[in-house]
Amino acid sequence: MRSHLCGQLRDSHKGDDVSLCGWVHRRRDHGGVIFLDVRDYTGIVQVVFDPDTEESFALADQVRNEFVIRIEGRVRARDQDAINPKMATGMIEVLGKQLQILNRAETPPFQLDEYSSAGEDVRLRHRALDLRRPEMQEKLRLRSKASHLVRSYLDEQGFVDLETPILTKATPEGARDYLVPSRVHPGSFYALPQSPQIFKQLLMMSGFDRYYQIARCFRDEDLRADRQPEFTQIDIEMSFVTQQEVMDVSEGLVRKLFSELIEVDLGEMPVLDYADAISRFGVDRPDLRFGLELLDVADLLKDVEFKVFSGPANDPKCRVAALRLPGGDRLTRKNLDDYTKFVSIYGARGLAYIRVNSLDSGMEGLQSPILKFLPEAVVNAILERCGAEVGDVIFFGADRASVVNDSLGALRNRLAEDLDLYERPWAACWVVDFPMFEQGEDGSLSAVHHPFTSPSCDPAALEADPAAALSQSYDLVINGHEVGGGSIRIHDPAMQQAVFRVLQLSDNEANIKFGFLLDALKFGAPPHGGLAFGMDRLVMLLAGTNAIRDVIAFPKTQTATCLLTSAPSEIDPEQLAELGIMVKPRAVDDATGDGTAAGPQAGGR
Ligand code: AMO
Ligand code: AMP
Repeated sequence: MRSHLCGQLRDSHKGDDVSLCGWVHRRRDHGGVIFLDVRDYTGIVQVVFDPDTEESFALADQVRNEFVIRIEGRVRARDQDAINPKMATGMIEVLGKQLQILNRAETPPFQLDEYSSAGEDVRLRHRALDLRRPEMQEKLRLRSKASHLVRSYLDEQGFVDLETPILTKATPEGARDYLVPSRVHPGSFYALPQSPQIFKQLLMMSGFDRYYQIARCFRDEDLRADRQPEFTQIDIEMSFVTQQEVMDVSEGLVRKLFSELIEVDLGEMPVLDYADAISRFGVDRPDLRFGLELLDVADLLKDVEFKVFSGPANDPKCRVAALRLPGGDRLTRKNLDDYTKFVSIYGARGLAYIRVNSLDSGMEGLQSPILKFLPEAVVNAILERCGAEVGDVIFFGADRASVVNDSLGALRNRLAEDLDLYERPWAACWVVDFPMFEQGEDGSLSAVHHPFTSPSCDPAALEADPAAALSQSYDLVINGHEVGGGSIRIHDPAMQQAVFRVLQLSDNEANIKFGFLLDALKFGAPPHGGLAFGMDRLVMLLAGTNAIRDVIAFPKTQTATCLLTSAPSEIDPEQLAELGIMVKPRAVDDATGDGTAAGPQAGGR
């Protein structure tokens, strides 16, 4: 249908007869001549119709934005004053001779070049239209290039691309499962995989040696800008490897993606251990594009009368930390109040601070709501520990360690964003030596990574003091995003059983849930390990956006709905009956207040 693509016409095509297909991006009537900006995936070219070509001119007069057209015409140079250096095709235009309307379009719900005023809901509801925008085209094409590079890098290194089941059994990755009822086995359910974890381990036991898959994963968890209920992993597993070898292959892949796709050298990637990351940055995915480190000050505050500080300072489960913000004197009282509100999201009960106006006038030179509670010697010791300078604001958190870490860790990121504290555009690091288990409020233990991760100690030491055990695991963090994580796995059945015991899984339960894995471990499992990257997060960073929705063709909203298809939706009563499922009437719906019942009683759709 076409001889050329719109965005590819250049000066060198002058005089050529061309045929083009595309969408009308914009139509301008300049009294006497009609200009159509015609768009395809390569870009936009200007086509001019004048009244000499009577029939086509009349048609050009009829077309509207987003009509689909085919034109024939001749490329010519633009008049000097009409040259548009901002457009790749801005030197030329096409003098239209024939115009054919291939399809008409109703007025779109938003103008493609003024989408930002449309709101994301409208864009997601009309996603096909939204994806026509050059910016979205670019992002998804970048994603396609990334997949291609991933495949070629891993293929070259001897990895085998294998698919694993989607209808499967629960894989414990810490989220809730999406379940699919079985018709043939009423009352039984498949779980969608949270990751291909167990299958990729089985493939190592089968001798495939190196596996990869660009795999879809499903997790029913709270959503955020970098979390979707279904997302894609670059999933990797290797046999006969050390932790360092897995990290090297994975790092090589990420470096290649950044250098080949966006010409970025990620530079040095420091390796931090988990405890160090938490102590210095409050989080296990530190953003290292800027400084601002947390400093422990509990030892200085044990004996002060101010209970807010001395209480946590004397409690081993608590932490008292300071965060020095150079140049914090830019912050207004309102800013400080906003930050106090912000840290309360993370459970902090307040945000004490000291403003350093001068360093040579004692307490007079400082400004703070807590000075009256603290002896001067203590204040001086704090200032010295922080290396305080004039113009600083020093923030304090005093609470359970997790609250202080979460709140000051988040505040650190927020300050960097608000005050643009970034010293470089990219900072990647590895975080290693995660604890094997974490303790819940009720004292029970759960695996930090997953229960197939190899502890760094032997089974006896693990069972003697599980809370102290570290694991052979590693996360790759870029600009504060956890882009990948993995571990060396357990290949010894005795160790696997020890981990299940710590997790209070009886032998019987372990057999029901993971018998197939324990079985395979018995018949000569090689030492193995691997990692999975969050593909969406990597592409999000490569594309320079801050939401993975922007790099997923058909994403879901924060409430896990697809605005395009209206999934999830109610199911016909007959279909439910076939599956042996009864849906309980819904309680009064908060959103509508109408108490609509779902399922058979409500008559389905
Ligand atoms: P993990 O659970 O750390 O490890 O997941 C690996 C990576 O997947 C990405 N990711 C997500 N991306 C978008 N939306 C989500 N809801 C989401 N959840 C996770 C993150 C994360 O680093 N089987 C192990 C890997 C292994 O041990 O080999 C696993 O799934 O970028
Ligand atoms: P209060 O005595 O509760 O009025 O608090 C005095 C100052 O300490 C205020 O600036 C509070 O924001 C701050 N503050 C209170 N609780 C904490 C806490 N747990 N951690 C850090 N600062 C706090």
